[in-house]
Amino acid sequence: MAKPSLKSSFVCTNCGNVTSKWAGKCEACGEWNTIAEEGPLSSGPSKGLGGKRGRTLELTDLSTEEAPPPRTEAGVGELDRVLGGGLVQASALLVGGDPGIGKSTLLLQAAARFARNGLKVIYVSGEEAAAQVRMRAQRLGLTDSPVMLAAETNLRDILTTLDQEKPDLAIIDSIQTMWADHVEAAPGSVSQVRSAAHELTSFAKRKGIAVIMVGHVTKEGQIAGPRVVEHMVDTVLYFEGERGHQFRLLRAVKNRFGPADEIGVFEMTGKGLIEVKNPSALFLSERGTPAAGSVVFAGIEGTRPVLCEIQALVSPSPHSQPRRSVVGWDGSRLAMILAVLESRCGVPFQGLDVYLNVAGGMRISEPGADLAVAAALVSAREDTALPPEAVIFGEISLSGALRPVSQAENRLKEAQKLGFTTAIVPPLSKRISDQGVALRQMPDLAGFVEDVFGGGPVRQ
Ligand code: TYD
Ligand code: MG
Repeated sequence: MAKPSLKSSFVCTNCGNVTSKWAGKCEACGEWNTIAEEGPLSSGPSKGLGGKRGRTLELTDLSTEEAPPPRTEAGVGELDRVLGGGLVQASALLVGGDPGIGKSTLLLQAAARFARNGLKVIYVSGEEAAAQVRMRAQRLGLTDSPVMLAAETNLRDILTTLDQEKPDLAIIDSIQTMWADHVEAAPGSVSQVRSAAHELTSFAKRKGIAVIMVGHVTKEGQIAGPRVVEHMVDTVLYFEGERGHQFRLLRAVKNRFGPADEIGVFEMTGKGLIEVKNPSALFLSERGTPAAGSVVFAGIEGTRPVLCEIQALVSPSPHSQPRRSVVGWDGSRLAMILAVLESRCGVPFQGLDVYLNVAGGMRISEPGADLAVAAALVSAREDTALPPEAVIFGEISLSGALRPVSQAENRLKEAQKLGFTTAIVPPLSKRISDQGVALRQMPDLAGFVEDVFGGGPVRQ
């Protein structure tokens, strides 16, 4: 039998990867200076089970008549959709995001909505004094909502209070400020964050209440990031956005009670967050006269079609190694598309700096945007605008062939709704209705470049 180890282990505060020795860079996520020492476990499996017999578990089969878990809607459509149709009782949620992005604002607004809908809600702030939270509530026009408030970081006191008050929902802002007195480590350390999240999660299950924890995403290693607790909770939502933009996206990255990859779109205003029911219109509203390098991509986020603008800029590079700069899209995917354009279509980018940006602070991860990215790049390089009435989508394979993507009909429907009349797409199945949009189906990328930009000037 392996001897229980009493040695410390080292945990990455960014991704939670455990290693036996310290390193400057985490092997798993590639971040620097994020590895912290964690003391030996003082209880649990490392003590060994000591040969004591446990009780026999009652085993059941898979057939069950169990009803779906009861849910409560906040009445904020964007939030309810991301939750998969409302808040589930006896569940633990994590809302992660950069400091200052608006997590506290979102959760205070959500708390007020849930409380108005009849839930008993307790909001515990470990970061701000009660007066500060009340001031924010006043600014947001929420002071009449029956949310109960506490400013506290001691987990034992918080759990005792929750046990007495028996709320339906408890919000803990933030998990990094919580302090469990049975763990000898500073608040925000991996051990503290883990055990606080563990205590809160098991409390939620035991008592049948919903617990929402806020987690700051951190780049430095001093405090543990929310990824350290992602695996413990039922639902993980990330609140994202560019600082300079007013758009905020709430993205479900894990959801035991609903679809993952769903997004909710909000706008940060002077009076808090407002839900954006038609994100496509919002993302395209800032679009000026169509310029070279600008393309409208018909994307899908979760179950919803979202149109957004992809912009590219190509300029002669003064450097021996030209720049490749990407915002809102994957850098290695960009490198792949540049390589395919170069080797399959004869469109070279050597000696050129390439900048790619997804407008509005949107972040796209689906490969269905490949063709739109390629179109933006060639359009920028050729200084030729694409037809302004066209949307583009399609995946590019390394051979240069275009591949169909999922939910084509939904994408076309959204494009039609927003006044686009043409779609440049891969070959689509005959069964797909064009939704009143003229389809320009392209079998491969070279054909697309030829057709849209004309063969002549591009090839060198
Ligand atoms: P906050 O919710 O405190 O962020 P987090 O909890 O993620 O750290 O939001 C802070 C920012 O939001 C702050 O820069 C000010 C801005 N804000 C508004 O623009 N409007 C508002 O009504 C509120 C309350 C905040
Ligand atoms: Mg906050």
